[in-house]
Amino acid sequence: MIGGVRSCSRLVARSEAMRTLLSKVAIVAGSDAPVVIEGESGTGKEVLARTIHANSPRAEGAFVAVNVAALPADLLESELFGHARGAFTGATAPKPGLFETAAGGTLFLDEIGEMPHALQVKLLRALQDGEIRRVGETQAFSVDVRILCATNADLRADVASARFRSDLYYRLRVFSFVVPPLRERREDILPLAHVLLERTRHASRRFTPAAEHALETYAWPGNVRELGNAVQHGAILSRNADIDVVHLPDDVASMTVQPTLARFDTLAAVERTHVLRVLESCRGNQAAAARILGIARTTLWRKMRELELASAVGEPLLHGG
Ligand SMILES: Nc1ncnc2c1ncn2[C@@H]1O[C@H](COP(=O)(O)OP(=O)(O)OP(=O)(O)O)[C@@H](O)[C@H]1O
Ligand SMILES: [Mg+2]
Repeated sequence: MIGGVRSCSRLVARSEAMRTLLSKVAIVAGSDAPVVIEGESGTGKEVLARTIHANSPRAEGAFVAVNVAALPADLLESELFGHARGAFTGATAPKPGLFETAAGGTLFLDEIGEMPHALQVKLLRALQDGEIRRVGETQAFSVDVRILCATNADLRADVASARFRSDLYYRLRVFSFVVPPLRERREDILPLAHVLLERTRHASRRFTPAAEHALETYAWPGNVRELGNAVQHGAILSRNADIDVVHLPDDVASMTVQPTLARFDTLAAVERTHVLRVLESCRGNQAAAARILGIARTTLWRKMRELELASAVGEPLLHGG
């Protein structure tokens, strides 16, 4: 139990920020209200959604996760709502949709910001009426499903630019949680690293103090998922001995303390590496990178010129955002 929340699959929440979040989760989980979970990639949005489900009266029901961005619009519609026999070529038998599969439980719509407009209308209707209609059928029927969704996009901005329907946005956003990035809750890094190491079959299950220091210092633009990859990297290379700095990925290992002054980089070099790393983690999306760096996009632009980053990142990437 953390903050009154029964955690599922060992959810780590040592930091104040995560504890505060979980205390709110404990209250909201008990209701049937939809929840929007926001956060950068790899922060643990799905883990949080599963925790909400596990702490809800629907815990015995199904938790059905669907990645909205992974399917084209027409396929997504029949996946979610099901289809009648003969609804389209290849529909040789009627098929229930994920709404029906999740009946009595929770439907988790991941990357909700990517939902095509036409489907946004259908989802809104399902939420308002508590009814769905299979593709190719005329009769609607009621389903009892709780909706949770997640996004790493700025949904509010998508509403402002009319990419996302405002009526659906407000319908979904009865409650919203933001999972903070790992760099804003460093107390969670080592407890997470140990839980993630336990998931590998590593014999020693320990990090050296220098490796722990590197893990705690690195910025983790890919958040908990990147930490998991680094731990796995270390577990394999250390071959069951304690995981040391040399076993960690290069960018994490470079966070180790340099013993001599001569080894220190200039501030400009550190800034350059950091800006470049953030840009890479955002796949060149400057708006997202500026947000992570906490600076205006125009400032980022100027810095990229000063630091001669435009050529390093590669021109095509720089148009993103
Ligand atoms: N608090 C946590 N405790 C334990 N494991 C965690 C925690 N947060 C994240 N993880 C682990 O990190 C990985 C990424 O988490 P998850 O898939 O929930 O992130 P996400 O925010 O949904 O990522 P994406 O934006 O890429 O979809 C998973 O393996 C998950 O088990
Ligand atoms: Mg996810």
